[in-house]
Amino acid sequence: MSNYHIKHLEEYFQVYRKSVQRPETFWEEIAEEHFVWRKRWNKVLDWDFKKPEIKWFEGAELNITENCIDRHLPTRKNKTAIIFEPNNPEEPAQHITYGKLHEKVCRMANVLKEQGVKKGDRVCIYLPMIPELAYAVLACARIGAIHSVVFAGFSSNALAARINDCECNMIITSDGSYRGKKVLDLKKIVDVALKTCPGIKKVLVAKRTGNKISMKKDRDLWLQPLLDNAYADFDAERMAAEDPLFILYTSGSTGKPKGMVHTCAGYMVYTAYTFKNIFQYKDGDVYWCTADIGWITGHSYIIYGPLANGATTLMFEGVPSYPDYGRFWEVVQKHKVNQFYTAPTAIRALAKENLDYVEKYDLSSLRVLGSVGEPINEEAWHWYNNNVGKGKSPIVDTWWQTETGGIMISPIPFVTPTTPTYATLPFIGIQPALMNEEGKEISGVQVDGRLCIKFPWPSMARTIWGNHDRYRDTYFTAYEDKYFTGDGALRDAVGYYRITGRVDDVIIVSGHNLGTAPIEDSINEHPAVAESAIVGFPHDVKGNALYGFVILKEVGEVRDRDNLRKEINQQITEQIGPIAKLDKIQFVSGLPKTRSGKIMRRILRKIASKDTSNMGDISTLLNPEVVEEIHKNSL
Ligand code: WTA
Repeated sequence: MSNYHIKHLEEYFQVYRKSVQRPETFWEEIAEEHFVWRKRWNKVLDWDFKKPEIKWFEGAELNITENCIDRHLPTRKNKTAIIFEPNNPEEPAQHITYGKLHEKVCRMANVLKEQGVKKGDRVCIYLPMIPELAYAVLACARIGAIHSVVFAGFSSNALAARINDCECNMIITSDGSYRGKKVLDLKKIVDVALKTCPGIKKVLVAKRTGNKISMKKDRDLWLQPLLDNAYADFDAERMAAEDPLFILYTSGSTGKPKGMVHTCAGYMVYTAYTFKNIFQYKDGDVYWCTADIGWITGHSYIIYGPLANGATTLMFEGVPSYPDYGRFWEVVQKHKVNQFYTAPTAIRALAKENLDYVEKYDLSSLRVLGSVGEPINEEAWHWYNNNVGKGKSPIVDTWWQTETGGIMISPIPFVTPTTPTYATLPFIGIQPALMNEEGKEISGVQVDGRLCIKFPWPSMARTIWGNHDRYRDTYFTAYEDKYFTGDGALRDAVGYYRITGRVDDVIIVSGHNLGTAPIEDSINEHPAVAESAIVGFPHDVKGNALYGFVILKEVGEVRDRDNLRKEINQQITEQIGPIAKLDKIQFVSGLPKTRSGKIMRRILRKIASKDTSNMGDISTLLNPEVVEEIHKNSL
């Protein structure tokens, strides 16, 4: 019998040992007993971190949607698979049963086929959090097309770059989206993007807001009539274990976003297994993850992980502040949510508001609380624990990444004793290592270093779309034979891990990863700008906010500084999206540089954080005098 459901600490240690000592036997048992396969694998694992090449369940054939939908039909046809909670609380929620989900996904799969999408094609999905988003994702998986979901807050430039990078030939979008009081014009953003995307042959448009939009003849089609006319059954495509399931873009240290490629079998096994244990999901529970499906958290823990377990998963279209700051708790009460998974930035924002917003509602259904996306600070942890969990719902602080596909380090609720700000212990099968500057593994406890993973796990990304060299260089060359996460971590006296934050040029703002390079590139395109550097500084709601140091070109008349600041942020909004806007912009005459010409961000970070007691050695700088000037005028 496999250990699919871990219930106490001793069992965790025993299963963990087995997963590390005999990983192939361990994962084979899980895969065999809890999933349906069209064909069995020949080999459980084949790997080489030097190439790097990772293959799980090679030779197997499956379709992930048969595991997420079809196999539940005999027992759960009338059970709710997805609860859709709209932006406007006056609009009724939808309860989509497994039977209905099957029908919707099959219709969508037929529509995609009729519109010419084939196995292996890339389909871009740019939709708000409406049921069609889930149907579209699953329909792609059902026909073997590779979905590339782009968060519907990205600008047309960012969208176009993602469409072109993986050469999508179709995009699925909507006429508009609701976000709190706002109505956003999604189709217009798509229209602008498509001016530079010659590969897109078809645009399917879901109707949501009734915005007046323009439809290009022969290219743009309303989705609903096509769905109504489509056949309500569809034989799922046979997929090889290592066929790509989806591409999801994440920011990197250089300008171009990285299209992380996840494959079918390993991703399914690991997201399902982590979901079951880390949320201690029991049949009949209602689970709610507040993330957007445009991020990995939504892929793995709104769609695939929960549905593979036959769970009821809630999809929320709105925002935590609309119609007021009690919305999350109103939804918890209304749907009797048992597991609630959100981001520290949301917790911090809500903690600033009156406690009445929480206390008004009956939260007694809650059993497990989760946190993801950035380190959760102690204050936010206690607020969440006391006011939402009433001290009785364990908080799972889950550390993982777009690249890892599933949760890597996390407590198991009611199993692992929690400690504020600690992600605690590695999940089953995960072998973390802390590395020092010399590239050696640091053993023992009460140590800190750079976080690596020593052994493959089933849901790791297999490559960066179209750029395997970049995949190797980014993740596998810093430390030999190890996957490098880009994060720093410490291990305390009992072996618990605490994530201390990024050690590269990625800054996490409100839980979103932002690479400094693309933002700097965008600023530098402003005609008045000569050069710029971005760093993060602590912010009490966003976790980090962005601080830009900008050198202007000294030509022509002197421009109004505040106008320039607005223009720079406008430029960033257009090229990347509003999430990448700078909170502070300081105009400087120079940037501190090493003799080899590299910007010393360490110094800028200290100035931006107002932590200038010890600036370290600046004597090696090319231009040490500039530090004093920047410091004196800092914002
Ligand atoms: C950070 C999100 C501390 C980390 C699933 C990681 C965290 C990056 C935590 C990945 C956590 C995520 N504690 N830091 N519990 N969870 N991070 O790709 O820096 O959007 O490398 O995946 O978020 O962000 P991504």
